[in-house]
Amino acid sequence: MDRIERFLEDKLNPLYRAHYALWVYWWPLWRKLYSGRAIRQLWNRYRLIREGQCVLDYGCGTGEFTIPAARIVGSKGKVYALDCLPRQLRVVETKASKEGLDNVEVTLSDLETGLPDESVDVVWMCDVFHEVRQKRAVLVELRRVLKKDGVLAIYDDMKERVLNYTDGLFSLNGKQGNLLWFVKTSGYQRYEEDSNHPVAQIR
Ligand SMILES: C[S@@+](CC[C@H](N)C(=O)[O-])C[C@H]1O[C@@H](n2cnc3c(N)ncnc32)[C@H](O)[C@@H]1O
Repeated sequence: MDRIERFLEDKLNPLYRAHYALWVYWWPLWRKLYSGRAIRQLWNRYRLIREGQCVLDYGCGTGEFTIPAARIVGSKGKVYALDCLPRQLRVVETKASKEGLDNVEVTLSDLETGLPDESVDVVWMCDVFHEVRQKRAVLVELRRVLKKDGVLAIYDDMKERVLNYTDGLFSLNGKQGNLLWFVKTSGYQRYEEDSNHPVAQIR
């Protein structure tokens, strides 16, 4: 597991790059046919993404969540799609333009978002956390850009590690399967919908 993690964290590794070059072809299909719908149902169930919000899709890949998020937030909202690979961002731009969505902006980065302090309502990070090399530094940056009552939503297999890394920066606010969502430590606020999974039992 550690070796796989190191491989995924090593962005300069030519194998990693080759893997992601091919990835743009099969991943959208995987999301479309298999996992994307179920994950978006979680958004609806917990009202994670709402009209008019500013959303940062951190590690957006080919935009499988950027585009649905842009539809939900609508013309009064904004979605920043950030990824460290330019190829994925080009796919996102093409999709957004085909759909006539002018509320999507792409950012090439592996850490800094370039966004002002406390400007984002929701940071969405799906299947990315385990690949991030500077995990704590990224979380500090995400904390900076999140509004006081903003939500950091992380979908990842590596739930225990996510809890370790977020400790002190964010408070766990809810959990469902691989989805964990947090608020900044100073603005704790519970989501009551997930009453089957009280936070006290998760920790
Ligand atoms: C498995 S894909 C998930 C893509 C998308 N979130 C989804 O769920 O469909 C992981 C993505 O995270 C990006 N990524 C990995 N480490 C990153 C980092 N430090 N900063 C920004 N993006 C990163 C990769 O380039 C890749 O596009």
